[in-house]
Amino acid sequence: MHEELKARIAAAKSKWGDRLTILGHHYQRREIVAFADHVGDSFKLARDAAASDAERIVFCGVYFMGESARILAKPDQRVFMPDIQAGCPMADMADGEDAELAWTRITQANPGRNVVPITYVNSTADVKAFVGARGGIVCTSSNAGKAFDWAMERGDLILFLPDEMLGTNTAIVKGKQHIALWDPHAPEGGVTDAELAKAEVVVWRGYCHVHTLFGLEDIKRAREQHPKATIVVHPECLPAVVDAADANGSTAFIVNLVQETPPGDTIVIGTEINLVRRLAQSFPDRNIVPLSPSVCPNMYKTDLKKLASLLETFDERLEVTVDEAVARDARLALQRMMTL
Ligand code: 13P
Ligand code: SF4
Repeated sequence: MHEELKARIAAAKSKWGDRLTILGHHYQRREIVAFADHVGDSFKLARDAAASDAERIVFCGVYFMGESARILAKPDQRVFMPDIQAGCPMADMADGEDAELAWTRITQANPGRNVVPITYVNSTADVKAFVGARGGIVCTSSNAGKAFDWAMERGDLILFLPDEMLGTNTAIVKGKQHIALWDPHAPEGGVTDAELAKAEVVVWRGYCHVHTLFGLEDIKRAREQHPKATIVVHPECLPAVVDAADANGSTAFIVNLVQETPPGDTIVIGTEINLVRRLAQSFPDRNIVPLSPSVCPNMYKTDLKKLASLLETFDERLEVTVDEAVARDARLALQRMMTL
């Protein structure tokens, strides 16, 4: 079955040649990654999409990634996803309207202060457009620190959405003492005017269930079982977990750390299990152990069958489209990130 699907994908790829490019995120299944022309973290893939001249871009990842590719690609290029229902629950934890409400309240509580919004790339096009229109910037987990520096050069209060963990972890690295939490489901954001007026960073209450699954007990167990191991986690993890780990960074950072670790050493990894398993298979001379198995069900939705079917039919229902008015403002925020 797999062999037949692989042969169909290979045939479609060779038929399309340079007119097609396939982008694959690090969390994709191993057999999908094998067909990707570009593999990487969110930042690298956004850059690859922006630099591509292919007529058709196929994004094997989750929806916000396809959407960012669509916004950054040229108008005559077309962007498709093997499963357009593969969303990111964290990205859906903020919408443009709720962001506007938060903005009004935060700016009213801070007369005379300049608020700069930053959105994690794991967000809807609407939220990126909101940020772009207000002079803000997109970041990924690989450049959140630089985005904070960029924002602090332009203002004195950051609104970070939608990931509370990446926002908090980055604020801690930047030495911020006053971090307020904005809960979009609580009346008035669940925060007082006094707290907002004191805040250096306001973080949105959103999270990734794949990464907040890891707890301090997992780190403790890993230290007991592998006392000499390096423990690396993704910055979407809880701040206490990031603090207890030896290193944290984007998926590309994790891949790089594994590559640079000498054979024989143990690395315990706190991120999505497909990447951890693929690294274990690719580097059999290192002892690569998951902090705990945690799967992103949305990344897992893309499989060989859907990829083969897409490449053979290019069904328009699988094409990513973004309203041009939204795309224009979202592009501003994405392009600011590209210049960091
Ligand atoms: P990276 O930018 O590190 O690839 O992360 C994307 C993501 O969705 C992590 O959950
Ligand atoms: Fe979204 Fe988490 Fe899946 Fe990344 S791992 S795509 S943040 S749900």
